[in-house]
Amino acid sequence: MVREVPTIFPVLVEGERIRLREVNIDDFEATWQWASRAEFFRFLPIDQPTRDEERAWLDSIVAEAHEMPRRQYELGIEIVDGSELIGMVGLGIDSERHGSAGIGYGISPNRWGHGYATEAAQLIVGFAFDALGLHRVWASHHPDNIASRKVLEKVGLREEGRRRDDRFVGGVWYDSVVCSILEDEWRLKRGSLMSNSGPE
Ligand SMILES: CC(C)(COP(=O)(O)OP(=O)(O)OC[C@H]1O[C@@H](n2cnc3c(N)ncnc32)[C@H](O)[C@@H]1OP(=O)(O)O)[C@@H](O)C(=O)NCCC(=O)NCCS
Repeated sequence: MVREVPTIFPVLVEGERIRLREVNIDDFEATWQWASRAEFFRFLPIDQPTRDEERAWLDSIVAEAHEMPRRQYELGIEIVDGSELIGMVGLGIDSERHGSAGIGYGISPNRWGHGYATEAAQLIVGFAFDALGLHRVWASHHPDNIASRKVLEKVGLREEGRRRDDRFVGGVWYDSVVCSILEDEWRLKRGSLMSNSGPE
């Protein structure tokens, strides 16, 4: 049996405090709020972009969103009150056949520490299993990226191993810590969260 993964466009995922939505080139100045901050890139395996590179990246994700079938979902994280764009969360399907996707996220530094990344990661993992029908969601992080590690743990991803010397950043080799969650683990976790928040 070959799995069929649907293509969804446009995506709008509503959470309690944030929503995930498609971005467009008008969002450039908002994305530049964090893309212009060196601390944002401290644990990322990419160089800080120039304005032109950031604009080109935004162009490329807008184009990818229209591909058929769609394999990349780079979504803006918007605060429900006030519609401010505070970050991005991404999902890339690496194997349709095996129902697998990787996720990543970033929040504007002036919004760190308010639980927004945790909520965004919860929403994108729910989207992966419920809307796309995937089987496995994984993420990888720099070994010292404690905030990202905590986000993944809170959403239910667990460490499955390390890719050794996987990234070369600033002249140094780093391992990537790989974490994952499977569909049945997600349903179990969500079920227990729902029963904990239900009426007494
Ligand atoms: C990683 C990142 C997305 C976390 O965003 P955030 O919205 O601040 O995360 P949350 O508020 O949901 O916090 C998650 C947990 O990390 C903790 N945390 C946040 N910043 C931290 C820090 N600098 N050091 C240690 N823990 C931190 C929070 O306290 C929270 O844990 P708690 O609930 O036990 O208190 C944000 O730091 C970021 O955008 N970094 C740059 C991009 C990046 O590294 N992305 C991840 C790629 S793998």
